[in-house]
Amino acid sequence: MPTTNLHEFTEIDAAQLVAQAIAAVQRAYAPYSGYPVGAAVLADDGHVYTGCNVENAVYPLTICAERVAITKAISEGAQHILAVAVATANGGTPCGSCRQVMREFGAPAMPVFIARTDGSYRQRTLEELLPESFSAADLPGA
Ligand code: THU
Repeated sequence: MPTTNLHEFTEIDAAQLVAQAIAAVQRAYAPYSGYPVGAAVLADDGHVYTGCNVENAVYPLTICAERVAITKAISEGAQHILAVAVATANGGTPCGSCRQVMREFGAPAMPVFIARTDGSYRQRTLEELLPESFSAADLPGA
């Protein structure tokens, strides 16, 4: 049975999510930067959605691994994300754009696992990565 409750998210689940992010690195299309990234997102529908960065010869059209994974989740019917893992060779952190997209669908307390492809990872909350975030709650009528 897949884990859907944040409070039931265990170390084993984290390692599994990290493993899926590391596997997704292999599918990166990063001929321009040479910096492959993989991501895995646990969504509230109980599924894990993976993503990789997909670059383009028109450089600004590149999309990050995290936003690919989140977009896949939401487009398949998920409404919220419960945890994110991102994997790179050097343990790089999610970019600012991806942090804001995480905030759209995830709570400030959501865990974000920042991994290296050797399997090591560190854990942060989204709030640590994006303090004092702007969200839908700040808009009029919220
Ligand atoms: N990249 C990601 O996929 N996620 C991030 O959070 C940081 C950057 C990708 C975009 C581009 O393909 C490459 O890494 C270099 O910026």
